[in-house]
Amino acid sequence: MNLETTHQKSSLNANRRDWRTLISRREFLGAAFASSLAVLLGQSLVALLNFLKPVNKGGFGGMVYAGKVDEFAVNSVNRILTGRFYIARTEDGLLALWQRCTHLGCAVPWVEEEGQFHCPCHGSLFNTVGEVIGGPAPRPLDIFPITIKSGEVWVDTSKPIERSAFDPSQITGA
Ligand code: FES
Repeated sequence: MNLETTHQKSSLNANRRDWRTLISRREFLGAAFASSLAVLLGQSLVALLNFLKPVNKGGFGGMVYAGKVDEFAVNSVNRILTGRFYIARTEDGLLALWQRCTHLGCAVPWVEEEGQFHCPCHGSLFNTVGEVIGGPAPRPLDIFPITIKSGEVWVDTSKPIERSAFDPSQITGA
């Protein structure tokens, strides 16, 4: 038993010596430092990429769900707050109008009592399809492309479309 233990101890010491000859303390610390640095840099890189990745939670700047087609009555204008646009429904279909005034960029409210968009900044007026009917705005309200999938209205707010005039082809049939 003692012989066996002694043999095991000497074998263990021999192994330690072998290990020490393979890698010095300095090399071990260097490798440990390099590994820690690599992990730290990796984590920083992942955090940086997450930070830079565009956040799109269905808000302005990406695809925005506006609602079901049936929720938009004919001849109505509904504000979609998260997307910063209005859905105007005509007898022919839908238009997604950016709320940004084409004069100097104020948010333009739809004024139900007036039946028009009325910019509070300098008084530009726009009708239900976004045409200028008064004030200094140089062109109609910009629009966004609409996609209708399974009765759901989706608006791509990453692609505003400037227009010089209203044209019925701008309406998405619904
Ligand atoms: S910003 Fe709307 S009228 Fe000037």
